Amino acid sequence: MQLCRLVYYSKYNISARSGVADDLKQILATAIRSNSGKGITGGLIFNRQFFGQVLEGDHAAVTQTFVRINGDPRHSDIVLTEMKPVGERLFGAWSMGYAGKSELFQALCGKYGLADGFDPMRMSGSDLTAFILTLVTQEQNVVSSEKIGASEEVGEFHEL
Ligand SMILES: Cc1cc2nc3c(=O)[nH]c(=O)nc-3n(C[C@H](O)[C@H](O)[C@H](O)COP(=O)(O)O)c2cc1C
Repeated sequence: MQLCRLVYYSKYNISARSGVADDLKQILATAIRSNSGKGITGGLIFNRQFFGQVLEGDHAAVTQTFVRINGDPRHSDIVLTEMKPVGERLFGAWSMGYAGKSELFQALCGKYGLADGFDPMRMSGSDLTAFILTLVTQEQNVVSSEKIGASEEVGEFHEL
């Protein structure tokens, strides 16, 4: 297996039919189910405007998953900032967190020079990876495949 890490960001397309909470719930349920079966770990963060995501795993599995994600109408303007072979994983599970309210989030914005809030267009691939990693590992309100298990129902996404 060739372990690799992929990082991208995109703009959220507000869906006329379902709404933000339903969109996120569906993305989360699909990702946790599909990624755990393919050995993919990583993190997804969202601030109502942008998504930022890291995917880690076998080169072929990560590529195929990204190609599917790339075609998803729930987001657009997808920018791939990094895709590289790595020696080890940074993420132990697949997790999703909301970037926008907490003290940790404010502190991270300060650390990465984001005076007006989370804006992945102004970040390097490695800074975006570090931002996502810190948020999903240290934030309380994060949904993770580690915590809920791949087969369980996904509950509400509380921070919205
Ligand atoms: C921002 C965003 C992140 C996503 N992340 C994942 C993911 O990590 N894994 C995954 O399988 N699907 C993810 N999806 C969902 C896929 O785009 C796609 O809907 C899903 O894999 C089902 O694809 P299929 O209908 O071709 O089977 C994500 C979608 C969006 C909008």
